[in-house]
Amino acid sequence: MLQRKLNIANLNTPIQKLDQLSSTLGKQIYVKRDDYTGAEISGNKVRKLEYTIQYVFDNGYDTVITTGAITSNHARATAALCAKYNLECHLVLRGDAAIFEGNLFLGTMLGAKIHQISADTSREDTMDELYHQLKSEGKHPLIIPVGASDWIGTHGYINAYEEILKQQQTMNIHFDSINVAVGSGGTYAGLWYGNNVHNEQTKVIGYAVDQSAPAFTDKVKEIIHDIDKSVTSFDSININDHYIGLGYGQATDEELAFYVEIAQQEGIIFDPTYTGKAFRGLISEIKQGNYNNQEHILFIHTGGLQGYTEETRQRIQHMISNQD
Ligand SMILES: Cc1ncc(COP(=O)(O)O)c(C=O)c1O
Repeated sequence: MLQRKLNIANLNTPIQKLDQLSSTLGKQIYVKRDDYTGAEISGNKVRKLEYTIQYVFDNGYDTVITTGAITSNHARATAALCAKYNLECHLVLRGDAAIFEGNLFLGTMLGAKIHQISADTSREDTMDELYHQLKSEGKHPLIIPVGASDWIGTHGYINAYEEILKQQQTMNIHFDSINVAVGSGGTYAGLWYGNNVHNEQTKVIGYAVDQSAPAFTDKVKEIIHDIDKSVTSFDSININDHYIGLGYGQATDEELAFYVEIAQQEGIIFDPTYTGKAFRGLISEIKQGNYNNQEHILFIHTGGLQGYTEETRQRIQHMISNQD
């Protein structure tokens, strides 16, 4: 296990109760605000990057290459940390941006070198090419995989699990489940592993935002295997892929209407790519009775508000003006 990490995120993040939803659904629903970890670095990624960038220093790298969608929160957080620590940062971003906004804008402003590739180009091959080119220029680059979801970054959520254990004690409650969005697997893997190590009865439930549950289960197993080969039983991995909807980064009108409803009811905004889909999944599963034996339910808000593109903002504006 890695012991060393940066201390850059605002931790511990608070756990807040959602009063209206709790009373409507007859449950105690709480949100852990990992969207409060920072501004430029906000969301779940900085917990992972605290370990990854420490690893960069400890191993003498001077350049970072990483990847994600054109809207990637991980890429933006990586750009911010590289700026702060004077590391050269290369972001391989896949997809088209209709306009220059959100994380693409922020990453550029933070000084990252952007390598935009088409949807059918391999991110890994592009990173490999870049790696060799930078090596030939005398640089010492580290490739950070998508979402920093590998054995290094996942330490961030093993750590977050311990933080939750301590907060439970202070709050004098025990969460029956911890629920989270799954986009590249590291956040879920860290929470699941923490739960496993501590032998807790809490269920760790993931809501997939793009790939299938079996694909993510394999990814989580792979990450855990790289951390601790003594774990052999993975039966309690619980990833639900029923709320992906139209696919990664796509939102239906029904989904957007749900995010508006929650915003106006609880004063909390979920993003349309990760937390919104996962939280909608959680509420839908509670309504279907699949959390009937649970009282205290924790959802982790992993950030991502920069993911509201002009297109989704306009659709929401239209929706709200039709309400009046
Ligand atoms: C805002 C947000 N929430 C959740 C996730 C999912 O976390 P992970 O990639 O560790 O599965 C991501 C990234 O993929 C994200 O950017």
